[in-house]
Amino acid sequence: MVHLNGTTKDRSQLVPFSSRLKEGRALAQDVWSIFNAANLPADCINLGQGYMNFAPPDWIKDAANEALSTVSGSHYSHPKGRPRLRQALKKYYDPMFGRDLDIEKEILVTSGANEGQYSVFVAFLEEGDEVIMFEPFFDQYLPSVTFNGGKPVYIPLHPDTSRGKITSNDWTIDFEELRRAITSRTKMIIVNTPHNPVGKVFTRDELEKIAALAEEFNLLVMSDEVYDTLTFDDKEHVRFANLPGMWDRTVTVGSAGKMFNATGYRVGWLIAPASIIQPTLAATTRIVFCSNSPLQEAAAAGLEQVHERKFFEKQRKEYDERRRILIDCFDELGLTYTRPEGTYFILLDVSNINWPEDYPFPESVKGRGRDFLACWYIALEFGVSSIPVSEFYCEEHVNIGERYARFAFCKDVDTLKQAAERLKGLKKAISKTTS
Ligand SMILES: Cc1ncc(COP(=O)(O)O)c(C=O)c1O
Repeated sequence: MVHLNGTTKDRSQLVPFSSRLKEGRALAQDVWSIFNAANLPADCINLGQGYMNFAPPDWIKDAANEALSTVSGSHYSHPKGRPRLRQALKKYYDPMFGRDLDIEKEILVTSGANEGQYSVFVAFLEEGDEVIMFEPFFDQYLPSVTFNGGKPVYIPLHPDTSRGKITSNDWTIDFEELRRAITSRTKMIIVNTPHNPVGKVFTRDELEKIAALAEEFNLLVMSDEVYDTLTFDDKEHVRFANLPGMWDRTVTVGSAGKMFNATGYRVGWLIAPASIIQPTLAATTRIVFCSNSPLQEAAAAGLEQVHERKFFEKQRKEYDERRRILIDCFDELGLTYTRPEGTYFILLDVSNINWPEDYPFPESVKGRGRDFLACWYIALEFGVSSIPVSEFYCEEHVNIGERYARFAFCKDVDTLKQAAERLKGLKKAISKTTS
């Protein structure tokens, strides 16, 4: 407040901000700000947020340090990405796509997968274009679509809740529901496989059915495959762009952050035909101009060495062990969960976790899905934080998501073991009958 001509005027919000922030849920108190370290007990083990509590491997850190001390590594890169990284991406992905990828026209380096996806929306969406996304959805999709005039259309994956033990494969698409959701304004569909947070690795059959709809209704397909190196139980990762006829309408999304435990490096990429990459390049050039240079060099070094070091094979084994710690813990407790076949997330069914009626919940979690209360209670009473899954649903479908809490196992074994030990205390909060 300041005094102006003897009057008191509130100057804290002189200029109104854009309504698109509200529409993109950007102003709402989101799950990350409620369940962050500042609001939780200091010694709470964070299995909420999906980033690692360990560093990238030394040989990638060394490459980053080396690049920082060079002249060219300290300056702008080409908006398409540094040639060394595009070359490394080509070498890595050529055999997987069965193509001779053109590093000038078919590969684009971005500032994390996120900015790459944003740039695709900038490049392709007209006001009112509809974008189909499966629920639960990666939360950045929503604002990225609405900021660019798009309208999200939500199709829930349906978990089989009739059985105790399910895998991520038991979360399925109702294809009639999907077909009904397509209108003359549908422009795009986002497929995320392996899927955050369900851990679902879509089957070839499911992807082929989506592909048939994409062809029939002429849709652009964004295939978010940032967890492509993280599949378990010999589950096959099928690349959407490899399905018959799909290369021409698919943009595949990748992330060095997920591949190399380097989420802060902010290096990602898009692989697609020139017809998709060229307009997206025009967009990304005007948004960030280029991605940061030294960490592109580090990502390139990473990709260049993965085969010889058998990096992904070893990493998969490590994640499998981490997954096992939580699975064993939940099995021992007799809790129901979704066994993930990919990614580093596991969904715990919290519908039969109970708390005292007068438990002092903060206002921030009241009035949200039941999962918000469950996650808060577990974090406060047992010292392990997780993320309520209803956050990744539209309001209409909150009832599906509020059954689950997402635990991230991208943490070191000791931390996970400690978390599992604490979670054993949940025994006393489990009701005998599942609601
Ligand atoms: C499904 C999915 N897509 C994209 C991203 C964004 O990746 P990046 O950190 O490279 O922007 C994430 C990160 O959590 C994700 O889970």
